Amino acid sequence: MNDLLLRALRRETVSRPPVWMMRQAGRYLPEYRAVRAKSDFLTMCRTPELAVEVTLQPVDLIGVDAAIIFSDILVIPEAMGMHLTLDEGIGPQFPTPLREPADVERLRTVVPEERLDYMLAALRMARRALDGRVPLIGFAGAPWTLAAYMVEGRGTKQFAVAKRMLFEQPAMAHALLDRLAVAVGDFLVAQVSAGAQVVQLFDSWAGALAPDEFRAFGLPYLARAARRAREAGAPVIVFAPGAGWALDEIAAATGADAIGVDWHTAPAAARRQLAPFPVAMQGNLDPCALYAAPSEIRARTQAMIRQFGPTGHIVNLGHGILPDVPPAHARAFVDAVKEWEWTPERVAACR
Ligand code: CP3
Repeated sequence: MNDLLLRALRRETVSRPPVWMMRQAGRYLPEYRAVRAKSDFLTMCRTPELAVEVTLQPVDLIGVDAAIIFSDILVIPEAMGMHLTLDEGIGPQFPTPLREPADVERLRTVVPEERLDYMLAALRMARRALDGRVPLIGFAGAPWTLAAYMVEGRGTKQFAVAKRMLFEQPAMAHALLDRLAVAVGDFLVAQVSAGAQVVQLFDSWAGALAPDEFRAFGLPYLARAARRAREAGAPVIVFAPGAGWALDEIAAATGADAIGVDWHTAPAAARRQLAPFPVAMQGNLDPCALYAAPSEIRARTQAMIRQFGPTGHIVNLGHGILPDVPPAHARAFVDAVKEWEWTPERVAACR
């Protein structure tokens, strides 16, 4: 059993760090596109056999040290009763976004075992299919990121409509975030019961918020969901891209086992900020670096490993892998990590 991820999360000494990639089950793989050609995205999410098939692809084809269950962060709003569409080239959309307090009151309370059972079934099936080869990661979107989508209706650069709600209708924002914190926490607990060995919270739009708003509308709800999930007994990774200035506050508020580091943040800066906290770090190669030649990918990846140091580092990209990266380059990234060894000389040079 390859338990490098679990050991790095406990900040144990490892001969090399574990590696996986956010969005590793996805369109850069021809094998994913072949499955996707026959079913639409939401059907894939809701059909455990298909979800498990693409969950295993990066383990088999790229050699990553963890599997992340194939699904999406937007399944929670969908389970709360919002109609979700995913059109080719536009991305996911809610055609009827939330606009007033009554819209929030109308949202259904999510019982994961009912409306999200397909993802729990996929986790159970993936755990069996993996048979201990690598750990299985579950995930959910963080409350602010889900709220931003639910109010905006789609992904945008600024999330201006969602941010307008924070200033114009803060009570509505808090009511929505409160319900989401419960739903996200419950869902992560259910995922752990279904077999997820690690869970990650994606606060993908944290960077849309200024510090005061992140502290008022982002962090408290992220922390509630993370703390609830931790009680279920699995390690929690919190990734809030664009909030690199707040890594220490995120570690303190969430009690997370690992903090994701985005590609804007230098590893040394992340280490400094997180030094007082008992946390591992995950990241953070710029996803665009995978466009470089394999020899260059190898050099940059190993330089990054050195910078994060010998304990408590999970190698990942600093955000999701891009759809047009050649699979051979993803493999070069993973192989560069597998070739690395933390020799006593290298460890000593890091102090
Ligand atoms: O990491 C994995 O491989 C597991 C599966 C996974 C997907 N989405 C599959 C997916 C995970 C963990 C996510 C999380 C997710 N979804 C996030 C957070 C991660 C991040 O990048 O910050 C966000 C913001 C979403 C919302 C979302 N879903 C968008 C914006 C899009 C369209 C654009 C895009 O990047 O693909 C999706 C669709 C989606 N989710 C696809 C996949 C494989 C593409 C669907 C297709 O095949 O057309």
